Amino acid sequence: MTIQDIQNKKHREKIIMLTAYDYATARAVDESGVDIVLVGDSLANVVLGLENTRDVTMDEMIHHTKAVRRGVTNALLVGDMPYLVYQADPSLAVKSALRFKNEGGCNGVKIEWFDRAVEVSKNITAAGVAVMGHVGLTPQTADQLGGFKVQGKDQQEARKILEQAKQLEKAGCFAIVLECIPSSLAKDITASLSIPTIGIGAGIHCDGQVLVIHDLLGLTPGHRPKFVKAYVELGESIRRAVSAFKNDVKDGNFPDDGHSYH
Ligand code: KIV
Repeated sequence: MTIQDIQNKKHREKIIMLTAYDYATARAVDESGVDIVLVGDSLANVVLGLENTRDVTMDEMIHHTKAVRRGVTNALLVGDMPYLVYQADPSLAVKSALRFKNEGGCNGVKIEWFDRAVEVSKNITAAGVAVMGHVGLTPQTADQLGGFKVQGKDQQEARKILEQAKQLEKAGCFAIVLECIPSSLAKDITASLSIPTIGIGAGIHCDGQVLVIHDLLGLTPGHRPKFVKAYVELGESIRRAVSAFKNDVKDGNFPDDGHSYH
């Protein structure tokens, strides 16, 4: 999958994107035929157990990206730039994007909207790394947006988000994630851009959809936002399997003859 392949899908077929953070999951996701695998900074929450995506480091992202790279042979691989290396210090942006490309083997990086997102996108693109934008609810700066809530509900806010998306397209982004915005706004943005939009909590009209793999698999503990659809309850399956193993060992039923060497 190339950037061009992804862009050619706009108006033709939906783009499928999922996150992955390790080799085995990346391989299963890739073999299932997704178009884009994102090593999201949601790594912080769903894998490392941190409260805030801002706390994940570049070294942690690279460590997981390398594992994912080994499992992905077909999909486009995108690395999510952590807050610390482009928003906290924009002078690190190009160097960090190049690390995703050269050390992590990524085909592109993703950055969330912030006041210098256009400049940073242009610089990264000029350095030869493709950039995916991200507008609407931007988790790294959610505290400035009133928390984790739907964005762009009033006209002024909606216009602002549409404008941000247009600016990112002009800055050279190859696609844009729309997170937690009304379906009608996502429809307007999708119609206004020539690059694909990929929605999460942004309704049906986007050019593609993305979910965090742990949410899709029912592995995320606690509250589930409205936009999350768990296609299986793997957390429950793990608990049942581990309990069965525990009981078998306690009762002397494992290992049985069939699982022993003679
Ligand atoms: O970090 C992440 O998983 C993301 C997706 C939700 C788009 O940014």
